[in-house]
Amino acid sequence: MTYLETTAQFYSEVAQTPQVGLCCVQSNSLQLPELKIPQPMQEMNYGCGTMVRPAELANAPTVLYVGVGGGLEALQFAYFSRRRGTVIAVDPVMAMREAAIRNLELAAQENAWFDPEFVEIRDGDAFFLSVADASVDVVAQNCLFNIFKPKDLHLALKEAFRVLKPNGRLLMSDPIATRPIPEHLQQDERLRAMCLSGALTYVQYIEHLVNAGFGQIEIRSRRPYRLLDCQSYGLKEHLLLESLDTVSYKVSIPEDGPCIFTGKTAIYAGGEPIFDDGAGHFLQRGISAAVCDKTAAKLAASFPEDILITDSTWHYDGGGCC
Ligand SMILES: C[S@@+](CC[C@H](N)C(=O)[O-])C[C@H]1O[C@@H](n2cnc3c(N)ncnc32)[C@H](O)[C@@H]1O
Repeated sequence: MTYLETTAQFYSEVAQTPQVGLCCVQSNSLQLPELKIPQPMQEMNYGCGTMVRPAELANAPTVLYVGVGGGLEALQFAYFSRRRGTVIAVDPVMAMREAAIRNLELAAQENAWFDPEFVEIRDGDAFFLSVADASVDVVAQNCLFNIFKPKDLHLALKEAFRVLKPNGRLLMSDPIATRPIPEHLQQDERLRAMCLSGALTYVQYIEHLVNAGFGQIEIRSRRPYRLLDCQSYGLKEHLLLESLDTVSYKVSIPEDGPCIFTGKTAIYAGGEPIFDDGAGHFLQRGISAAVCDKTAAKLAASFPEDILITDSTWHYDGGGCC
């Protein structure tokens, strides 16, 4: 069996016998007016973060969801679009598609606004998304791409890039590792399928996004996820996994490199009311402005006396300059 077949078998098992808490992080589930999540759907929350942020969904975008799981986030996306065909969800595991369909039917019984036709579930996988080039506003995946080995991850990211419209967004949530995961764990296909041993480091993860062509990447959150402890995993030191939520835009990569926003800000402390570096960056004295990491590094190197750069907060949701 290949590791992708092991993965499919594992998710077939957990579609039929749900494993509560398999992947999810401790968080309050998204509360929205008149949205009720059926219990069996809640028990199949196999994501490690969240893709659904109300402030980003105001324009009812077309969403392609990769790896439907129990259908929880497909339902949450449909909450914002409420039209047939606006949420397409693909999954290669038949038992998982069947579970999601059942759960969405339950959701229709509990939510007067919801029609199961709002979500179209298709047989398909991350490497072949069965939709036309440049046809969707959003591609979303939660706790799936970390399972893929680097070559397959590149294919999956290129496929997401292909189907996104220009300026479209790839929403991702995955575990990342605070140091490279040792080979013996990476080779363990079941641990990989459980999102525990395929994780890349932050730097490798971002590199993959850039190599697929995404010109702007924003970090929405980064927080502790799981500990691989010495005793259980045969390690010399404990290894912390984090959960990383990102939004990557299908925009060209600027000549001087991608714009990666990690929550850094620049604050001008010089003698003028306004700072202008002549390259499109304006700062008001004493007021913080979000900047991408590239600009933060340039400003810090060129104006060390006058500009203070604050640390990454790992939470960025708009504004500032690149
Ligand atoms: C960890 S679960 C996450 C489910 C869902 N995103 C959630 O947040 O609850 C991974 C999902 O990806 C599906 N999957 C496995 N291999 C896949 C592939 N090659 N392409 C697309 N989906 C896949 C699994 O069947 C499962 O539904």
